[in-house]
Amino acid sequence: MQAQHSLGRRSCLALIPLWFAAAAVHAAPDPLAPTAHWTAYTAGRASTPPMGWSSWNAFGTDIDEAKILGSAQRIVDSGLAADGYRYINIDDGWAARRRMPDGHLMIRADRFPSSNQGSSFRPFTDRLHAMGLKAGIYSDLGRNTCSQAYSPGDGNLPTGSVLEREVGLYGHIDQDIALYFSDWGFDFIKVDGCGLRAYGAGNPRVRAGEFRALPPVLDLESVSRSDIPAVQAEFAHINKALQHNNPDGDYLLSLCIWGAADVRAWGKNVGNISRTSDDITPSWARMLSNFDSAARRALYAHPGSWNDPDMLYIGKGDFDAGHLVEARSHFALWAMLDAPLLLGADLRTMPQALMDIVGNTDIIAVNQDPAGNQATLAYDADDLQILVKTLASGQKAVAVFNRGLAPIDVDLTAEHLKFRKDAPITLTDLWSKAGTTFTSETKLHVAPRETRIFRAQGTRVLAQGLYLSEQPGSVNPAVDGVTRPQADPTIFRSSAAWSGTKGAGERPMYAGWGGARADSTPYDQTLRIGGKPYAAGIGILANSRLEVRNHGYRRLSAEVGVDDSARDHSHSVTFMIYGDGRLLAKSRSLRWGQPAQAVSADLTGVKVIELVVRSATGANELLPVSWGEAALLSPVQSD
Ligand code: GLA
Repeated sequence: MQAQHSLGRRSCLALIPLWFAAAAVHAAPDPLAPTAHWTAYTAGRASTPPMGWSSWNAFGTDIDEAKILGSAQRIVDSGLAADGYRYINIDDGWAARRRMPDGHLMIRADRFPSSNQGSSFRPFTDRLHAMGLKAGIYSDLGRNTCSQAYSPGDGNLPTGSVLEREVGLYGHIDQDIALYFSDWGFDFIKVDGCGLRAYGAGNPRVRAGEFRALPPVLDLESVSRSDIPAVQAEFAHINKALQHNNPDGDYLLSLCIWGAADVRAWGKNVGNISRTSDDITPSWARMLSNFDSAARRALYAHPGSWNDPDMLYIGKGDFDAGHLVEARSHFALWAMLDAPLLLGADLRTMPQALMDIVGNTDIIAVNQDPAGNQATLAYDADDLQILVKTLASGQKAVAVFNRGLAPIDVDLTAEHLKFRKDAPITLTDLWSKAGTTFTSETKLHVAPRETRIFRAQGTRVLAQGLYLSEQPGSVNPAVDGVTRPQADPTIFRSSAAWSGTKGAGERPMYAGWGGARADSTPYDQTLRIGGKPYAAGIGILANSRLEVRNHGYRRLSAEVGVDDSARDHSHSVTFMIYGDGRLLAKSRSLRWGQPAQAVSADLTGVKVIELVVRSATGANELLPVSWGEAALLSPVQSD
């Protein structure tokens, strides 16, 4: 949330009395002031999306050591570990109780025989580490977990008094994080949010004395009923404890608040992966809604801070061995989104055909590409989407996804790839490995629910540079201009088993996205300034600050202005380009309807660029602004 600010506040300070200037220094910091830093999360170990396995989709709370180690063994034996699948994560269901009075967490000893009567996971994590793997654990922001809230009849939940059943982090952050990381040797923690969501005083089970009340600060259906600072404060505390207990920085923090509380805007600053939606189920429709929740957030994923549309469900329901087309699509789409690749099946019995899908090393390489650019949507319609991802080499990966039930003959064009249409383009099919070459455009037959995925080699339109929208992994909307967070459409239509079909169902939410977008306005329209459309660029709201990492380019150029989609026609905005904190270029004051102004800046020696748009008005939701054709040009090494 951004405070109002006034242009030139600093230069005015010279003219006012000293005591007043001192007071002004303590005023709320100007969020648009350049910081000369990249502020998205780079702590922990997630320079590429994490890969591994989690117990939840396979077993729910019905877990034990044999099941988990059995899947871990198959990961090693099958070669998946060598392909990068490394984290073996225990989800909900492991805790027996919190021992009183010292508050030490106890493990279900009957399920984890190596735990020394339930007192330590160290023998278990030692086993995983000896296999060359890493170990993950699960907890909750509140006092109690999700299963305790939503599965009352579950026999695998903590037992004992009200206080003994409080196995979540709330009030125990330092103690529990020290236990998990310093004592037990875990490398990964997933922090769920049900404890801050489901235990209000009105909950019948709270009223019945089963749990202590904790006023809900997280509300999936209403961002305005969420207390965002309260949730952020808890993650800040968790981070301090993680850093304290992991001096070598070898940890991974997974945020699980399902896209609520406007976490899109800030989750990338406080953790390595952040869930964008409610839970996936093994159904095609649900996979689509989870995919959709992350697919328009490319600018919010970077090396160290990834969007998480939830764990893979390959191996069950619509993604089992009888549905190889769907299973392949699920995998290819997650790879293109730079999503964590966390397998969710009982690998002891996973059929080879499915093991082959998740072991496709070409597709894994797309997901693990070091540039960390999540794919953007180059074409987006009801049934068909074309996703394009710029690789570190400057070449592309492209996925052509048929969401529907009829086959589609697709025209894939050079424009989709931002490649020149007069130079040859080679596609390598990442399933069949077949290659084809074309110029300008080609036809692809895409079967129902199929995703065709290719590596594409061609000549980029900007041979001597990259559009910012081609490198979302290096662009961070540090301030996205959203002053009043809007509901996030994380939940679409579904009949999830845990909610049944009573009532009105999980209503779809159609609120605006409001965030920054690659090649689109924040409200999903073509970028357009003064009547001129832009196929490439960044769309954002006024009063925003984008951070851009410069990997050795000499110049930034763009055509800037108020986007034609703005409903506010009266207020003007100014665009500024900073390099490592210094103002390099500034536009005129620009209003709706005026033609774009070309701006450019010399980036010699600059590491962090900041693109700031200021307006005098707070009505940002109505004021989309566009950095048309914004690009970094002239790589130093090419001279
Ligand atoms: C929530 C999470 C799931 C899983 C369960 C465990 O629903 O979103 O991923 O961890 O809790 O109870």
